[in-house]
Amino acid sequence: ARQPKLIVEADAEALARGAAERVMAQIAANPGRIAICLTGGSSPKRLYQLLGSEAWREKIPWERVHWFIGDERFVPESDPLNNMAVARATFLDRNAPSGHVHPIPTTADDPDQSAEAYARELQSFYGAESLDPARPLFDMVLMGAGPDGHTASLFPGYPAIEETGRWVVGVPKANVAPFVPRVSLTLPALASCREMLFEIAGHDKQPILTRLLNGETLPAVRARSNGETVWLVDQAALPEGIRG
Ligand code: 6PG
Repeated sequence: ARQPKLIVEADAEALARGAAERVMAQIAANPGRIAICLTGGSSPKRLYQLLGSEAWREKIPWERVHWFIGDERFVPESDPLNNMAVARATFLDRNAPSGHVHPIPTTADDPDQSAEAYARELQSFYGAESLDPARPLFDMVLMGAGPDGHTASLFPGYPAIEETGRWVVGVPKANVAPFVPRVSLTLPALASCREMLFEIAGHDKQPILTRLLNGETLPAVRARSNGETVWLVDQAALPEGIRG
């Protein structure tokens, strides 16, 4: 997979705008059905607000776009920790046709069952049970990086990060807060996209971004698109030495 492209924005606001523009560019590049894989955590919240704001929502062809999620906390939809619930409340519920929002179900007995159900949903959307390198599953995959270098719910040293067959796996225990079980897409499923876009902003991210830029073999470094991977960062997250 190609090396990530590093793009530096002045601050978190400019970064969210840059991310929104990249989402719109992927939408514009595909005249057919579009699949966008969202992410959780705090990093994408401003982007979601922007996409739901008047200026942007009018430009999105909602009838053609399907929204997925790269990982989920195994908590009910009503729980504020639920990643898709945050995205829905922030911009999807007011705009997306209901059949176009594809949450990871958390009503199953355990995260493994929920992972299997989501894998079936992804496969039926894709129309095949194995990934064709010539036909990406997603147009855009959004990602974040955690303080331990995890991305989606793929934590360093966990077996889930080595998964090569399944598209979605249950993760019984998280490595960082919130310490609830997770359900996560795997590296091969996430890689099947035209663009994988990381949003990494703020001074709190400086230690982990420094490690990622040093090329440590952390999940957030191993996660690469079969197409283009972009690390969108802001000045505050950059290591001192390379700040502009
Ligand atoms: C989650 C996310 C996770 C997130 C990173 C960064 O479920 O928590 O999908 O992978 O992207 O942990 O989180 P922040 O954006 O909150 O820093």
